[in-house]
Amino acid sequence: MDSNGDGIGDLPGLTGKLGALRDGTPSSLGIEGLWLSPVYPSPNRDFGYDISDYRSIDPMYGTMDDFDLLMAGAHTRGIHLIMDLVVNHSSTEHTWFKQARTCRENPFHDYYIWNDGTNGKPPNNWGSSFGGSAWEWNEQTNEFYLHSFLKEQADLNWRNPRLREEVQCIMRFWMDRGVDGFRLDVANYYVKDAQLRDNSHEFVVAQPMPGNTSQTLLMPMSREVYDHTVDQPETHEALREMRRVIDEKPGRMMVGEITQHTLDQVLSYYGNGQDELNLVFNFFFFVRRFRAKDFRAIIDQTLSLLPKGAWPAWVLSNHDVVRAVSRYHLTPPMTKSMIGLLLTLKGTPFLYNGEELGLANTPLPRRLLQDPVGKRYWPLPVGRDGERTPMPWDATPDRGFTTGTPWLPAGAPDMTYSAEAADPTSVLNFTRQLSWFRSHHTALNAGDMSIVAGPSDTCLCFTRKFSTEHLTITINLSDQTVTIPRDSFTSGQTPVFSTEEQPSTDSLAPWEVRIATVPE
Ligand code: NOJ
Ligand code: CA
Repeated sequence: MDSNGDGIGDLPGLTGKLGALRDGTPSSLGIEGLWLSPVYPSPNRDFGYDISDYRSIDPMYGTMDDFDLLMAGAHTRGIHLIMDLVVNHSSTEHTWFKQARTCRENPFHDYYIWNDGTNGKPPNNWGSSFGGSAWEWNEQTNEFYLHSFLKEQADLNWRNPRLREEVQCIMRFWMDRGVDGFRLDVANYYVKDAQLRDNSHEFVVAQPMPGNTSQTLLMPMSREVYDHTVDQPETHEALREMRRVIDEKPGRMMVGEITQHTLDQVLSYYGNGQDELNLVFNFFFFVRRFRAKDFRAIIDQTLSLLPKGAWPAWVLSNHDVVRAVSRYHLTPPMTKSMIGLLLTLKGTPFLYNGEELGLANTPLPRRLLQDPVGKRYWPLPVGRDGERTPMPWDATPDRGFTTGTPWLPAGAPDMTYSAEAADPTSVLNFTRQLSWFRSHHTALNAGDMSIVAGPSDTCLCFTRKFSTEHLTITINLSDQTVTIPRDSFTSGQTPVFSTEEQPSTDSLAPWEVRIATVPE
């Protein structure tokens, strides 16, 4: 929400909308935490993911006072505030880098990763995730620096203990202000191979994520395997140090963005379950097909591979991927089944703004693109602007987001907050009701979970249990009515929550989400 008409969402705008997020009644979303994408000063080459000062707020979003007001307002309502911590790299406009690049003897030089290369060529084949070589020449010192993303995002040197201490001080700075935790950007990228060995390549057939069908890309290509740039064992050591900082104050947490590789590797960032990340984003949950079978497989594997004491996290949309609604072509009833799943699984669900409305991606013409990735690869459908368009508060031309010109155009007027708030059958009202139900049932918040056989293969069925509270969740992930056989696990259970006004005890409606109590 933009409060000052410059077309860019800001902290006072957000503070004014906190009531929609949580107001202690069933007519708000009832969320318990708010993750802000980066709001630090930034030249915005990568929309805040290139930070030039880790200890202040970009004037574009407001002042430090505005930040404190947002945090106080959130805390009064019982909302925790999570900051984005982007410390694999800094902006090349950060004073550290500006100093580091001047001469090899500068005390900040070793905050970054440098190499002479050979005959003017980079030292190895490492590629930037955003295209091209990951090495950029620096005239003043006659050497290359490493950037895993844009050349304006220089990778920090995590082998330097001073840098690690610096990051820990930044964490304490925000924790002392009252911040409840951090979302760690590309947390498995921190430490790089000390010998700078070449990455290997695999030959794959590239396909777009389902839903990105505006152009169908199906071409054989060679893909870099980040075997020497990510998932280095020393990164775990750095995360353990950071966890000790998190644990210095009660009730703080960190959730890490862990990309690529195997599910085992992703979950390894929980450490022993107590000593690394509190939560890990598990992108293997982005199933290829929106089917019970696919979800069941990944949920099952995740729960069984999770170290003891570790707590799962579930996410299907964020600012980097096509919104799940577009990816899977979800209708509102299907969206309810997705939200039903997110909010009933054992673990912490993350919703991306607008997901509670069932919002789709906004198609954008080339001239309106902002994302450097989208611009570079246009017309390949890899840009991220489509999922970043403004929150549609109402049906006015700029959707009530701004009185000025929005930084990205607002999407279609068919799904807005105000229309959905007024419609008892909307995705928004379903999300609110289920969130309210969840907050009043410890079994859903904190209970154990077991997957059980459902009335049919198209249904996901699991139980949640806490003390004497025992619930069964059944989600019919199909457009067919499913009969509940007499001998099935759910037969005879009493529905206590459903997407249907009058759930039938003999069958599940298409896409129905049902919660039932299990008789003792
Ligand atoms: C992951 C962030 O979510 C994404 O938006 C960003 O471009 C890269 N990391 C680089 O920081
Ligand atoms: Ca603004």
